[in-house]
Amino acid sequence: MAIIAPSILSADFARLGDEIKAAEQAGADWIHVDVMDGHFVPNLTFGPPVIAAVRSATKLPFDVHLMIERPELSIPSYAAAGADRITVHAEATVHLHRTIQQIKDLGLPAGVALNPGTPLSVLEHVLGDVDLVLIMTVNPGFGGQAFIEESLNKLRQLRKMLSDRGLDHVHVQVDGGINSTTAKQVVEAGANVLVAGNAVFGERDRAAAIAALR
Ligand code: DX5
Ligand code: ZN
Repeated sequence: MAIIAPSILSADFARLGDEIKAAEQAGADWIHVDVMDGHFVPNLTFGPPVIAAVRSATKLPFDVHLMIERPELSIPSYAAAGADRITVHAEATVHLHRTIQQIKDLGLPAGVALNPGTPLSVLEHVLGDVDLVLIMTVNPGFGGQAFIEESLNKLRQLRKMLSDRGLDHVHVQVDGGINSTTAKQVVEAGANVLVAGNAVFGERDRAAAIAALR
């Protein structure tokens, strides 16, 4: 069964702690935390102090998606703020291998995210070191964008890459434009962790929204 990770990007920031509690009560598995720096992506969200402030709202894992340039400079701050897993963009760090080791050395599972235009080949020599690959199904920066269909081919290729290498345990996460229709398509194509912003926090009945994604 797929892991459902609501993205708090679409939550009410004035009531962030309560929104996270509501997502937990509604059946979420992970809380997806979108960190944007206004450079790597054209939008700015929050950093370690806000994450630390809402950490006690839930026992669910904080799945921190860093859409920031040079994440290696601030990974320890995100770990200290309460991240349970950290995903960096392959496009945002020159030394991807070193950055992955840095996350693992902090005792956290490491993820690598790829923008829609980034080929799977960048993963070739790090695949054995990661716990999760995040296939962006929109260009990162904003919630509520339309799912990019080509992502389905990419997901199928990634699943094959993983099984060819005996790495079937690696999580395949998707993020962007996931709703009850696209959820079915991405799971068929090989995804097992679904991030959803609007499809959860945009709905009044979050439990029904999460059930619909599952
Ligand atoms: C996109 C973010 C996503 C975003 C998804 O840059 O990484 O996590 O919140 O939002 P929806 O599900 O609304 O497309
Ligand atoms: Zn995200």
